Parts: sequence; C-alpha cells; structure tokens
Amino acid sequence: MKRIFTYLILAAAVIVNCPGNCYADSRIGLQNLRCEMLNNPLGIGTIKPRLSWQITSDARNTNQVAYQILVASTPEKLTAGRGDLWDSHKVSSDASVMVNYSGKALDSRAACYWKVRVWTNNGATAWSKPAKWSVGLLNPTDWKAKWIGCDRGFAWDSVSKFSRLSARYYRCQFDLKPGIKKATAYIVGLGHYELYVNGQLLGDQVLAQAPTDYTQSVKYNTFDVTDHLKKGDNAIGTVLGNGRYFTMRPKYKPKKIKEFGFPKMLLQLEVEYNDGTKQTIISDNNWKFTADGPIRTNNEYDGEEYDATKEFPGWSKPGFDDSQWLKAELVQAPGGKLDAQMNEPIRVMDTIKPIGINQLKKDVWILDLGQNMAGWLQMRVKGNRGDKVTLRYAETVQPNNELYVANLRDAKVTDVYTLKGGAEEIWHPVFVYHGFRYVEISGYPGKPELNDFEGHVVYDALPTIGHFETSNDIVNKIYHNAYWGILSNYKGMPVDCPQRNERMPWLGDRAVGSLGESFVFANDNFYAKWLDDIAQSQKPDGAIPDVAPAYWNYYSDNMTWPGTYILVADMLYRQFADKAPIEKNYASMKKWMDYMRFKYMKNNIVTKDKYGDWCVPPESPELIHAKDSSLNTDGQLIATAYYYNLSGLMEKFARMLHKPADAQFFATIKQNIGKAFNDKYFDKTTSKYSNNTVTANLLPMYFGITPTANKQAVFKNIVAKINDAHDHISTGVIGTQWLMRGLTEFGRPDLAWRIASNTTYPSWGYMANRGATTIWELWNGDTANPAMNSRNHIMLLGDLIAWFYQDIAGIKTVNAGFKQLVMQPAITGELDSVNASYQTPYGLVRSNYTSTKKSFNWHVTVPPNSSARVYVPAKNISEVTEGGAKILGIKEIKPLKMENGRAILSIGSGDYDFEAKY
Ligand code: BGC
Repeated sequence: MKRIFTYLILAAAVIVNCPGNCYADSRIGLQNLRCEMLNNPLGIGTIKPRLSWQITSDARNTNQVAYQILVASTPEKLTAGRGDLWDSHKVSSDASVMVNYSGKALDSRAACYWKVRVWTNNGATAWSKPAKWSVGLLNPTDWKAKWIGCDRGFAWDSVSKFSRLSARYYRCQFDLKPGIKKATAYIVGLGHYELYVNGQLLGDQVLAQAPTDYTQSVKYNTFDVTDHLKKGDNAIGTVLGNGRYFTMRPKYKPKKIKEFGFPKMLLQLEVEYNDGTKQTIISDNNWKFTADGPIRTNNEYDGEEYDATKEFPGWSKPGFDDSQWLKAELVQAPGGKLDAQMNEPIRVMDTIKPIGINQLKKDVWILDLGQNMAGWLQMRVKGNRGDKVTLRYAETVQPNNELYVANLRDAKVTDVYTLKGGAEEIWHPVFVYHGFRYVEISGYPGKPELNDFEGHVVYDALPTIGHFETSNDIVNKIYHNAYWGILSNYKGMPVDCPQRNERMPWLGDRAVGSLGESFVFANDNFYAKWLDDIAQSQKPDGAIPDVAPAYWNYYSDNMTWPGTYILVADMLYRQFADKAPIEKNYASMKKWMDYMRFKYMKNNIVTKDKYGDWCVPPESPELIHAKDSSLNTDGQLIATAYYYNLSGLMEKFARMLHKPADAQFFATIKQNIGKAFNDKYFDKTTSKYSNNTVTANLLPMYFGITPTANKQAVFKNIVAKINDAHDHISTGVIGTQWLMRGLTEFGRPDLAWRIASNTTYPSWGYMANRGATTIWELWNGDTANPAMNSRNHIMLLGDLIAWFYQDIAGIKTVNAGFKQLVMQPAITGELDSVNASYQTPYGLVRSNYTSTKKSFNWHVTVPPNSSARVYVPAKNISEVTEGGAKILGIKEIKPLKMENGRAILSIGSGDYDFEAKY
C-alpha cells in the first residue's frame, strides 16, 4: 500500500523551470550547505575550503550524477548567477561531501557567497539557498594589533598553590565616520574573554576561545560587528579571564604544570566604508584597563567570585570616565601561531530546572539538579548591598545530605556572589565551569525557591546527530548516562572529567570512545582540532604525551594513550570522510611510531607500557586498581598488540597517501610483530594468551594476530572467562574498547547484550541502578577510594556506543563517510525494538525495528546519494516483503543472496519497510 502511495507521489511530481535553463524537479532539493563542515563560517583559516551539501528527495534510489557550484564575491553577483570567484560549470561527479574549492585564489578577508545545484538520476534540483564563508587573517602581516596586558598581579591577587587572579577589564573608545559598510572584529583573549561593543555582549560563545598550548598555536575568533557600530563615538570593552593561560595550580609540586603567564589580548577591528575607505582599530597601549572590577577571582578548579558592588556601569560604552583606569601595557606575544578557530565555540547548550531543594541547617540549602552535568548555576536573588551568597558544587551527597567533596581532591569549586542590593539580581559565573549535580547554597537572603535557580549546561556547540532507543529501559538509561558524560567532557578539547582538580585532555580516554561519540555528536572539527593539539605537543625526538595540549607534562612513552592520535584520525576519515587530518598528521604519526620502535621494541615486542588495562574491576571494593595479577594483563602484551593494530592503520594511511614503500614497511612490521606475539604469548596446547584474561585473548583475536585455525579455540576461552565472571565485565579501559564488537563479530552478540544490559556489579547498568546519571571512572565508583573516583568520566564506555549504533541499530559505514552503508543489526534474542537514527554527511539514516522470536519488521531510511547493503533476518530471500509486497520485482531492491539466516539486499536511497520471518 505504502509503495503504491509513493508511486502516486512520484507521478504527481511537478517539473518546474529553473534559472539557467535546467529542469528542476521539485521532489529533489538541497539542504545543509557546509563549508569545512560549518554553517556559514566567518574567518576560516584556509583558502582551499571543502564544500558539502545534502540532497533531499522523495524518490527512492536518488544519486547525484553532476553538480555545479557558483562562488561570488557579493550576494548580488551570486543572485545574478555570476560566479566571479568560481563557476565550476557542470561537473560529472557523485561527490557531494568535501568537494574542494577550486576557484580564484582567495586571500585574507575574502567574502565568499555560494550556492550549488545538482543533477541526479531522478532529475535536477533548483539552485540551493545561498550560503557563505569568509576568510580570516592568514598572513602574519595582516595583524597590526599589538598584544596588551599587564604582567603582574595586584594586591588582591595571589600566585600561591591555589592561584587567585581577578579578571582584567580593557576598554578603548574611537570615532567612526558615517557610511559604515562592513566591520569585522578579530580577537584573542587569553585565557578566556568576553567582548562588548557599545555596551553589548557579542555572540553567544562562552569560555572562548578554544584552549591550546599557547606557545604553539593561538586561536582567534572572528565577528561581524557591522550592526553594532555607528558613526561618531564607539567603544569596545573586553574582560579577560584566566582559563588555562594563567594556570589554576602554578605551584603544584608533583606534576610539572605548564605556565603561560598573565592574561593578555589582541584585537583588530576593521571597518570598511561605503566610499571604499578603511579604518582599523587595534589593541595597543592607548587602551585603558583595570583589574579592580567585579570578578575578583576566576579559577577553573576553585570557582569564580563576583562582587556586584564593584560593577562600573557603562564601562564598555563611549563616554565612560576611565581616568582612574590604568594604561594598558604592551606585552610579549604568547609565542604560538595565530590560527583561526575552526571548531565550534562552547555555548550554553541546555538549561536544567532543579528538582529539589532541602534545608541542611540554618542558612544552608542543598539544591538537586537531578542530573550530573558540567556548567554552572544561574541564580536569581534579591537582598541588601553586600549580602554574600556562596555556591559550592558536588556530584553526590553523603547520607546526611551534606555535599560529598572527597573525590574533588583540592578543587574548591565555590562561587561567591556579593549583591549590589535593591532590585532583583540574576547572576552566573562566566570564566569557570563545574561538574555537579548538587549545589550547596549558603548566605542566600530569604528562602531560596526552586525556580530561583537554573543549571546551564556548557559544552562545545556540536549538534546532536544520533538517536538511540531500545525496548530495554536499563540500556536506554545507560545511553542517557553516556550522552551526558560525553557532553560534560567537551571543553574545546576532550577532558577526562569536569569536576576535580584535573580536567585534563588525556589521550587514552578517547581511543575508541571517540568513535562512539561521533555517532552522538558532530564532533569532526572538534577532534580535528585536537589532533592539531596532539601534533603540537610532539617532542623533537617524536614522543607524544599522554595529555595534549600538554598542560601537564606527561611524556611517559606508551602505546595505548598516544596511540589515540592514530585511531582518532582514522575515525574522522571513516565517519566524516575527512581525509585532511591523515594528510596533515601522517608525518608526525610515523615519527612517533619510529620513536617507539627504536626506543622500546626488542625482538618485535614493545617492551614499554604505562597503564596496563587501566581500571579493571578490582578484587576488593575499595581498591582503585586491581592488585591481583590474574586480573591484570601484561603491559608488554598490550603495547605490542597496539603497535600491531596501529601499524595496520598506518599501512592504510600510507596507501591512501600514495606512499607504497611506507605501506610495505608497515605491512612487514605487522607481520613480524604478529609472529613474535604469538611465539611469546600464545600457548598452543591451551589456546590461551598469557594469563588468559579477556583482554589478553581479545586483543590478538580482534586485531587479527591469532592464526585463523586457532580463532575458535581462543574465542571459546574468552567466552569461558566471561561465563566464569557470571557474564559480567572483567576488562578495563583497554579491553573494553574492543569487547562488544569483538563478541558480536565472533558470533556472540547475545553475550555482548547480556554484558551491556547487566544491572549487577560490575556493569554500566550497576552504575545506573546506583543512581548514576553519567558514567563513572571506576566500575566500583560507589565504594572505591575517593583519590581517583570521578562520577563523570567516559573512558569505561569502551566501544559500547559504537556497538549500539553499528551492531544493535546496524548503522555502519563501508567506506569513508557513509557513502555506502552496511546495515546488519545483530540479533541478541533479547530486544523487542530499536529506534535509531544518525545524521551522516549525506543525510539521515534510520533503523527502526521490532523483533519477535520469529519475525522482524524493519523500517530503514537511506539518504540520497548513498546506498546500503541490508541484512534482513529471514528464512528465505523470496519471502522478504517490503511495504507489504514481495521484494522480488521492486526495482530499487536488488536481492543478493541468503547467508547465515540473512537475506542480503542492495538498496538505493529512500524509505523501506521490510518484513520477514526467521
Ligand atoms: C585520569 C584518566 C587518565 C588517567 C591516566 C586519570 O587521573 O582521570 O582519565 O587517563 O589518569 O593516568
């Protein structure tokens, strides 16, 4: 019936005329034009951006056969169809993702307006809606602005172990002529900045700009400020916070913490007039500043203190009396290259209404947001001038309802607000964030009510692109917890946790997790930026640290943490068709592989490791790390297996980059390591590797080191070991990265499902049943020592989220960026239904199914310009129906074969309703 309906729609489709004498088919359209994966970006850092678009179509099996791109220097030219920068003309190609701009050479400040139209096998589109990008300041000589700051503290500042530094306020006033055509501001404010123009806060970014190793790279942000300026007097104000620039713990003994110095800024405002003249306003020592403003201290670990009695109304407007302010000083540049920020800014992405407030004692209240999160609390308050409200944050509470802060180590996580008094005041901090679910409120004038507070959820503005829901409540809860854990730890870089005195971009936590995350959030630019951070942290000898940017100096030389560098590059290519990170980083990756091999490889075994299978479930509940050697896996085994696996990726990258000699080199290394590994660790009589942990057996199995003839026997040992643990997890950060997909690939998705849906210890479901609303750092997070026990860490997710999407929903890419999909949902025997969708670069993929013991009903959506091989559970290929009709005879469905109880079909884009008995 549905099919007939679709045909009726097709028959009724209207053919309309479009400019340029093409025939546009109204059923086919274009959407989501992106430049460097961003919507209408300003100030990009490349003159050869990559352009992408998505095709919409209500006809099945729609494929692009040609495209035309027009790029113009003004919107008017674009409307008139004049691509003065680039007219690609009609290009026969199916490429609609990452198409290289190949027009006139662009330079700094270029404004580019673009549109595209495509031809498909089902007709042509009209021109898309226009989109745009502009180029930033690419040449060092473009920058006329000077770095300003003040390289000293004031009486109220302190540079003790817990640094305290007030925010710095800068201002400048200037005069503009009438006839402003366009004005663009470029800014860096280290560590964080807020930018005001004529009294108005610009943009909705927070905690800007993206954090880096400022001696290597400094990101600048670009704003169109045309509408904020006027003829005559204008003023700019900036507030500088500390961020990671002026570090939170300057005098911290055990770790060498990188220090950059006191806050500083660089600003260049370029104004173009209608008469063609230009004016540039720059930061220099004509600016004025004060450190004696309302933000008294701001420290990411310890919190922000704001004294509203010290506000100076109108300070960022013209006419403000700044005679008491100091003269800005010219200071040294931070040293890093000025780079356009190409990853999305951090924003307040969500707000949360608290669910409970209880009085703990006189004047002290505990507020519960119901969700562990990262961000801050916004408060509404009315009281007397000088009243002080103190907000202290924590992830959990103790049985007596007091905050539980032992696991925050020495982070003070305390915001203090001093009222100016009189009218109602609304406040939240701006230069810090906290990881919390509970807030202790003291000193609040009157009785605080629930609706006086709001949680602001702060993370990188990455669109949520995945949806995953099943008929199993505990799995849904785990997914919810993972979602909140992932977003909590996006802070311009992936951090390990958002609450204690750490918050560091540890590489190992993201090795495979980043793949799972890429199904949930559009994190391509985010991770591409992180790979730059990692490259910049490489030492001349090739060493890559465990933390990058290397705010903590941890070059411990191991395979599993730095190896993330290579795994993430592969993820970006597979998930987003982004090849640039591989091209850019290949040489550094190879250098690191060489470094590790020369320094630590003996007889094809890597002899150095640091973390082992980090955080396995330990033998007793209070332990952080297992002491029992039968639970831990040999570090050299792990390191060697990783070297093997990463060599495989390097071989693939080398082939992609047309480096056959390198590819051969890595292929040979792989072979040699594989042999040495089996010789050293494999016991042929028992088919066990090393001490027979799941991790020791799983790594060689999954990476392909195990000889084919031995695979079944090794797999049996893995299963036996899991059965011994009552079908519970026994792996840590390393083994869990491959566990769910490994069990599924070797034929036991049911066992993977049991592990995933367990509610008893140790499991993700155990955490959820113990009240977790995020994922814990430790399987025994409720009983372990607080020294290392965050409640919002995501490293233990391993490959769970990737497995949810790839194997439970059955949404997997064959090649780069989901141009071809393989859709093969695993049958676990436990699931009644799954509803999943994923926004691929080509458009939305959907996989919704209901399954009984005997039948399978499956709704599949494949986006235009891509295709899928679908595996329908069935007895017989000829009995599979689609939309109620036998599939044989439906022209968009090509039956391929029956295999292992699946009817394998090849389908084009569109919506399908399959049904089969199996
Ligand atoms: C961090 C982890 C990290 C580990 C490695 C911990 O303190 O929180 O996420 O990967 O250290 O040493």
